[in-house]
Amino acid sequence: MTIHTAIPNIGLGTYMMSPDEAEKMTYEAIKVGYRHIDTAEVYRNEKGVAEGIKKAISNNIVKRSDLFITTKVFPGSERWGQSQKTYQDVVEAFNKSLERLELSYVDLYLIHSAHADQTRVEQWKALIDLKQEEYIKFAGVANWNINHLQELKENNLLLPDTNQIELHPWTQQPELVSYLKENKIHIIAYSSLVPLSTWRSKEGENSLKTSKMDAEGSSDDSLFKSLANKYNVKESQVLLQWALQNNYAVLPKTIKISRLKENFNFSFLIDDDDMSLIKNENKGGGITWEWGDPLLVD
Ligand SMILES: NC(=O)c1ccc[n+]([C@@H]2O[C@H](COP(=O)([O-])OP(=O)(O)OC[C@H]3O[C@@H](n4cnc5c(N)ncnc54)[C@H](OP(=O)(O)O)[C@@H]3O)[C@@H](O)[C@H]2O)c1
Repeated sequence: MTIHTAIPNIGLGTYMMSPDEAEKMTYEAIKVGYRHIDTAEVYRNEKGVAEGIKKAISNNIVKRSDLFITTKVFPGSERWGQSQKTYQDVVEAFNKSLERLELSYVDLYLIHSAHADQTRVEQWKALIDLKQEEYIKFAGVANWNINHLQELKENNLLLPDTNQIELHPWTQQPELVSYLKENKIHIIAYSSLVPLSTWRSKEGENSLKTSKMDAEGSSDDSLFKSLANKYNVKESQVLLQWALQNNYAVLPKTIKISRLKENFNFSFLIDDDDMSLIKNENKGGGITWEWGDPLLVD
């Protein structure tokens, strides 16, 4: 099976959730119908996700095989006072994630970013071997640019099944998207909801979103508000549907049950003219990572 058919196109994002929130929202999301949960070692909530999964399985809502669980290894970087993970470090980090998740395999394992310029290739070799040994069903990367992926080609290595990147109407990455499509690397879009005025609006939820962008997102003239009115849906649903129509999987994160449903239950099509209008909204680089766009690392 390829990742294109295996991956549920709407998953629950869990960044900035505490372990308790992750437990509750994983369980509630599975109840709503989500089958894909996205976590990472650096989110420090894998144990919460594990509890939510266990509860859903013990209440006979799903079987393990119905779920698609993604986690990520942080590559390590001097930038954060860390050493770059070696092949062996990646295998150890994977085993720890598996233990915290209380799983015997994960569906998708990702290298969280390309910051480990010295050990990126050996990190990728570790993922290829984990896949070969069937500890992971699919192996991928996140935040890798064309040069990072070309480096794998130059080393005659298999390419990732997926690249998880920031993608929404303000950050469309046309060149990278074309490259990924040409190379049959599935695209998972993260931070789909950046243009909303409610996106990461709480104290401490940092990013590179400027007050000008905030004002633009909140304005009554915003394109997404007018499209939401036109299609009689929520603005969040316009943003998610835009991604789905581009064949990206999405990972909306919320700690509110009503939003969980809103982000999952919708059915409409954005027409071609409106897709063209949205194309004009691209502003350029990444907004999500407060330390700078990870696609720009060497
Ligand atoms: N690989 C990477 O480097 C990377 C980076 C960023 C994200 N991700 C993954 O992608 C996931 C999603 O990205 P994200 O967390 O940046 O943001 P997101 O899903 O684009 O947006 C979440 C924000 O929007 C609010 N929100 C959610 N649903 C809403 C709705 N229906 N209406 C109004 N507001 C809504 C949430 O607030 P409430 O929670 O209060 O509802 C939260 O502040 C992450 O959780 C993570 O799993 C990966």
